[in-house]
Amino acid sequence: MLKKLIFTLLVIPSCVCAQSPQLGKDPIDKVINAMTLDEKLDLLIGSNGNVKSNATVTIGNSSILVSGAAGQLNAIPRLGIPNTVLADGPAGLRIDPKRKGTSKKFYCTHFPVETLLSSTWNTSLVKAVGAAMGNEVKHYGVDVLLGPATNIQRNPLDGRNFEYYSEDPLLAGEMAAAMINGVQSNGVGTSLKHFALNNQETNRMNDNVIGSPRTFREIYLKPFEIAVKEAQPWTFMTSYNKINGTFASERSDLVTEILRHEWGFKGMVMTDWYGGQHATLQMEAGNDLLMPGKLEQRDEIRKAVLNGTLSMEIIDRNLKSILEYILITPHFKGYVADNNPNLKVHAITARNAATEGMVLLKNMKNALPFNTKVKDLAVFGCTSYDFIAGGTGSGDVNHAYVVSLIEGLNNTGYSIDNNLQKTYEEYINDEKEKLPKQKGLFAMFLPQKRIPEMNLANVGLAKIAQNSDAAVITIGKTSGEGSDRNIKTNFNLTNAEQKMISDVTTAFHKMGKKVIVILNVCGVIETKSWISKPDAVLVSWLAGQEGGNSVSDILTGKESPSGRLPMTWPISYKDVPSKDNFPIPDSISDDELMKSFANITTNVHTNGTRKNYDFTKYDDGIYVGYRYYTTKNIPVSYPFGYGMSYTTFKYDKPVVTKASNGDINIEVNVKNTGEYTGKDVVEVYVSAPGKDMDKPARELKSFAKTKELVPGEKETIALSIPYNSLASFNENNSCWQVESGTYKILVAKNAADIKPLTTTIYEEGSITEKVRQCLSLEQK
Ligand code: BGC
Repeated sequence: MLKKLIFTLLVIPSCVCAQSPQLGKDPIDKVINAMTLDEKLDLLIGSNGNVKSNATVTIGNSSILVSGAAGQLNAIPRLGIPNTVLADGPAGLRIDPKRKGTSKKFYCTHFPVETLLSSTWNTSLVKAVGAAMGNEVKHYGVDVLLGPATNIQRNPLDGRNFEYYSEDPLLAGEMAAAMINGVQSNGVGTSLKHFALNNQETNRMNDNVIGSPRTFREIYLKPFEIAVKEAQPWTFMTSYNKINGTFASERSDLVTEILRHEWGFKGMVMTDWYGGQHATLQMEAGNDLLMPGKLEQRDEIRKAVLNGTLSMEIIDRNLKSILEYILITPHFKGYVADNNPNLKVHAITARNAATEGMVLLKNMKNALPFNTKVKDLAVFGCTSYDFIAGGTGSGDVNHAYVVSLIEGLNNTGYSIDNNLQKTYEEYINDEKEKLPKQKGLFAMFLPQKRIPEMNLANVGLAKIAQNSDAAVITIGKTSGEGSDRNIKTNFNLTNAEQKMISDVTTAFHKMGKKVIVILNVCGVIETKSWISKPDAVLVSWLAGQEGGNSVSDILTGKESPSGRLPMTWPISYKDVPSKDNFPIPDSISDDELMKSFANITTNVHTNGTRKNYDFTKYDDGIYVGYRYYTTKNIPVSYPFGYGMSYTTFKYDKPVVTKASNGDINIEVNVKNTGEYTGKDVVEVYVSAPGKDMDKPARELKSFAKTKELVPGEKETIALSIPYNSLASFNENNSCWQVESGTYKILVAKNAADIKPLTTTIYEEGSITEKVRQCLSLEQK
């Protein structure tokens, strides 16, 4: 009997004689019923798992459809199931620009990184960027963009923070939702990643995150929840790490209970590349698709099905999600890619977005914008000549060009000190030659080596200062997937960088000339030790391929800066709340990092005891970022939500009203009272009573960006705080609960604003949602 069943499963498609059911024409269940086990495995496991397949049934064409795409699903032509294609990532489509048999280049637009996009605090702009990105996804024949990523920026050293939006769940969630809505407006999908708690890169495949359900739900899962409810991404990507002892991809409480049952996610879930350990447990947890696919996974699932430890019901449930996804893809709909997106138009989108996300930290005596007398500039710092568009790893984009700062300034009509430029360019070429060539399969995951700053002793600084009208210095820091940022050289400035800032400011100030510092950085850096020296400091982040033009738009005053920090800039790394519960990357060798990656292919997972390597305790709880600094009164260099403008804005007293369902509505008039046209961000924080519950001093509950206001112009901004967003997670009762009492509604310039416009509102407490207990040590 068993033999007969196996024979049927493996060999005979159920309707072998009649015409097979066809996806799209016949009900999904019928298509699934017609599949052999091998065909089922073909679909559940990405096409890499088929490379040396000994499948008895011929599967379709699994040749690579889009060169450089991260992964592909197998086709089953006899059932009308086409291949579909998945490609990274959060800053634009990452595919190979070269293809066999053609000299045409398939470049994509390198948009600004997510951290810059969230610094705009402008959801419509982020949606427009998403729409442009999604347009390239479609035109290049890809079905799903593997992004956005919306993990919380828990610690400034996380090497992938640039791929994430914020330390705040509301900002991160709204940005992710806007991006998803934008990309998907093209009829292509997104994959919201990395679900969940992937907040460090060191030993990312194995690290065990240990924390409380309240911390997880209120801070780390919240952005995903917001995005599901506001945007329904087509797919989700589970993360590599473990959560309280079990791989995220193997936790059904995360992937099925919370994601699907509580939040109502309707799409397909896939693993991160080679993530997790047991294919069968991943299947059971509700992880529909294993990417990029491994032969061992086929064998494991096949065995489990045949010996009855994995039910066919689970397999078929997962297949249903996959087929529902395939049904809506461009490949299924027969869309033929023309490989011809409008890159020129998208470059303008990238430039405008980048300009709007840059954050002005300092501007003494209106050093910026440059006045019309400033014409000749001396430009320092290797990065000025070699501007960084984005981070490394899967968040990178194969762009056609990057506008450096020098090019941007030239394009705007400034003249640049040519001798200095030549000296720098020669130095950069020589030093790049000397950089060690990183070898090995996982070399791309090692920390990026950057060339040291040039010694300025022999360039004739005094003369340069005499002959130029102002100096611009760029500090560059990048990071990427696979390793975290080093404190000594990536978070702090190097001695050479410190010296460059000192020497240039001394020489230029002697001549009464201004010095501007541009921070072309992947994330938070230390500023306290040097920021008193230059006259102005602009954070340009990793601004994509148009970076130099965007910086120039701000230096000239063509645009007034309107970016606001999406995370706190602490005075020192020592102040960071998670500092004791985060790896110190400075102490982890390249060899050790390489070893942790070797696990990808061998599927060996250690169960070690090394803190912040084998496990990371989230003892900082809900006190992440400004929630910690404002509650504990820790001074910071620049608070969350901070950013300067060339103009000034004045708010009338906000009108705050409570609706009958407890929602809070706020109306505030914003007037441009300065001399430049510009946009402002209205930030609304709530201070909860905090009597029955442990609550941070302030939490962002709403925000909006004004339109561009000309001097003297006013706009009324209407915001709303839903009653249930005041709830905290009560672990004892496993419910979301609003506490009774007086809530302060603060319309503030940033999280640390000591003079916010304050109104109080009384709210009756209640349980807003009761949920199943999830994510603790005992549950999976
Ligand atoms: C990354 C994902 C990415 C995938 C495919 C993984 O290493 O963590 O973010 O989408 O690779 O490139």
